Amino acid sequence: MCGIVGYTGPRSCVEILVDGLRRLEYRGYDSAGVAIQAGGDIAIRKSQGKIARLTDLIARKPVAGTCGIGHTRWATHGRPSDENAHPHRVGRVAVIHNGIVENHRTIKERMIAKGRTFCSETDTEVISHLLDEYVSAGLPLEEAVRKAVAELRGSYAFLAVTDREPGTLVGVRLNCPMVVGMGEGEFFLASDLTAFLSHTRDVLFLEDGEMAIATPAGVRITDFSGKRRERPNQRIDWSPAMAEKGGYRHFMLKEIHEQPRAILDTLAGRMLPESGEVFFETLPLTGEQLSRLKKVTLVACGTSWHAAIVGKFMIEGMARIPVEVDLGSEYRYRDPVVEEGTLCVAISQSGETADTLAGMREAKGKGATTVSICNVVASTIARESDGVIYTHAGPEIGVASTKAFTTQLVALYLMALHLAQARKVLTSGEISLHLIDLAELPRKIEEFLKREPEIAAVARKYKDARDFLYLGRGISYPIALEGALKLKEISYIHAEGYPAGEMKHGPIALIDERMPVLVLCAKGESYEKTFSNLEEARSRGGRLIAVGTEGDDLLREKSEDAIFLPPCGRYARPILEVVPLQLFAYHMAVLNGTDVDQPRNLAKSVTVE
Ligand code: AGP
Repeated sequence: MCGIVGYTGPRSCVEILVDGLRRLEYRGYDSAGVAIQAGGDIAIRKSQGKIARLTDLIARKPVAGTCGIGHTRWATHGRPSDENAHPHRVGRVAVIHNGIVENHRTIKERMIAKGRTFCSETDTEVISHLLDEYVSAGLPLEEAVRKAVAELRGSYAFLAVTDREPGTLVGVRLNCPMVVGMGEGEFFLASDLTAFLSHTRDVLFLEDGEMAIATPAGVRITDFSGKRRERPNQRIDWSPAMAEKGGYRHFMLKEIHEQPRAILDTLAGRMLPESGEVFFETLPLTGEQLSRLKKVTLVACGTSWHAAIVGKFMIEGMARIPVEVDLGSEYRYRDPVVEEGTLCVAISQSGETADTLAGMREAKGKGATTVSICNVVASTIARESDGVIYTHAGPEIGVASTKAFTTQLVALYLMALHLAQARKVLTSGEISLHLIDLAELPRKIEEFLKREPEIAAVARKYKDARDFLYLGRGISYPIALEGALKLKEISYIHAEGYPAGEMKHGPIALIDERMPVLVLCAKGESYEKTFSNLEEARSRGGRLIAVGTEGDDLLREKSEDAIFLPPCGRYARPILEVVPLQLFAYHMAVLNGTDVDQPRNLAKSVTVE
C-alpha cells in the first residue's frame, strides 16, 4: 500500500521526507511526491516512477521548508502517472492518502456540480476538494479535516497541510495505519515507523477514528468529534529490518496477517449485503451480455491457477455457466476452441506472468471478451484485458503468494454472484446470504490468526518429515493443491496435493508413518466421503493432520492432530481453509531454516516462458 510521511519542526524537511520515502520503498510503489510549505505557499514536486526521478526533479527545481508531507503511491484508483501521483493540491491544501475512499464517486459528482474540476483519476482528490472548500471558507485545517471525515466512507489514513497554517500537519487514521514520531521540538507522522526510526524511537500509534494535529510546539490527539485522547508514548527497540516488516519476522508472515484487511479492501464498495447487490463498474459486458454468456474460461499459473479452480466451483455452482480452467502455459499452445459468448478471465497477482498473458491474448485473438483479476494496477494483463477487477491486497513482497490468493478468491466469489445476479439464477435474498458470509470472513480470519502458536506447535512435530500428502474434495481440492505448493516452495519439502477421492487410485501406495497426510475435512457437502478417505489413510498407518470444523470431536479422535475452523458457508470455506495451511508451511520453513521470503530458484513475477 502507499507510504506516507510528514514532518514539522525546525529542520529543512525535504531530505527528511525523501529519506523517509526511501525507507518505505519495500512496500512497493509506482510514483512518489512531496508537498512543502514554503514562503506562504505549498510547493509540489511529484513524478511517476522511482524516487530517483523525484530527487532529479527536486534537484532541477529546488524547494525548501520546515513542514511538509511525502508519499509513495501504489496505484488503486487510476493508473500510475504524474497526475495521479500524490500529493494532490487543490487551492489552499495538499493531501496524501493511503486506503480507499469508497464513496468518492458520489462526492466527486457533487463537487463537479458545484463547478470544481478534477485533475486526476484518484479517489484521494475528493479529500483535497473537501478540505479546500472548508479551509477557503475560513475554517482551521483541523476543523476542515473533522468535517471532511464525517463525509468520507471507506478505509484511509491521510495527511494534510495548508498554506494558511505554516508548521501545521494534520493526520487521520481509519482502518489504515498511522503512527506519530515524537522528536525534540519536531514531529513525524507516517504510515509506518520505518520512515522516521533513524530520527526518533518514541512513538504513539493512532487508533482508528483518531486524528493528530502536529506543530513544532507539540502534538495533540483527538477523536473525530474533537475530544482529546491522551496516552503515553511507546519506546520502540525494533531494528530497521524488523520495522519494515511491521515487527514480523518475515514479509510472508506479515502478509498472512494482513489478510483480514486485504479482504475488507477487496470487498469495499462492491457489495450491499442488505439488498443482495454486487457492483462491478469495470466489467466490459452489460447485464444483458452477461446473461447471454455461454462459457467462462479461467487462465492462470501457480497459486493463481488454484484460485481459478476454486473459481470454477463458484461460477458453475452459483451462476450456472460452464467453466473451463487452464494453465497459461498449456492453454496458449493447445489451439483452444473459443466459441462465441466466451468470457476469458486471466488471474494474476503481478499482472505480468508471461504464460497467463499469452493465454489471454490467445483467447482474445479468437474472439473472447477478456477480463483480468489482478493485484498490480496498470500491469500488462490489466491493461490488455477488456475489463479488470483489482484485488486490493496491497503489495505482496514474499515470493509465496498468500494475501493475493485469498483476495483473488474473494474477487471470484463476487464475480460469480455478479453473474448469478445478471442471469437471475439467484434471488437477491440468496445473494444477500452469500454476501453476509463474505462480510464475516475478515473477522473469522482475524480470530483464527490469534491461534498461530497452535499451528507452530503442529509444525514442530512434523518438521523432519520429507514427504506430505494433502487431500481435499470438491472446492477444497484446489486448497489441498495450494497448501502443498506453499510447503514445497518455501520449505523445499516434497508435498503432493490430491483430490481425496483419487487417493485410492494410486497415492495410497505411498502412505506409511513417514508420510504425513493433511486432510481438509470441514463439515459440508462432502464431509462423510472425505472422512472415509481419512479412515483409509489412517488404516494404512498414515499420520493424520486434519483441518475441520469446530466441535467435530470424532475428527479430533481419528486424527493425530486437528486444527479447527469456525463454521462458514460452502464458498467462503476455501478462503478460510487456506489460512492454516499458509501458517503451517511458514512455520515448517522457519524450522527448516530456509529463506522464507525469497526461496531458492523462484521469482515473484515470472515474465519468461
Ligand atoms: C505462488 O506462491 C507462486 N510464487 C507462483 O505460483 C505464482 O502464483 C505464479 O507464478 C503466478 O503469478 P501471478 O499470480 O503473478 O501471475
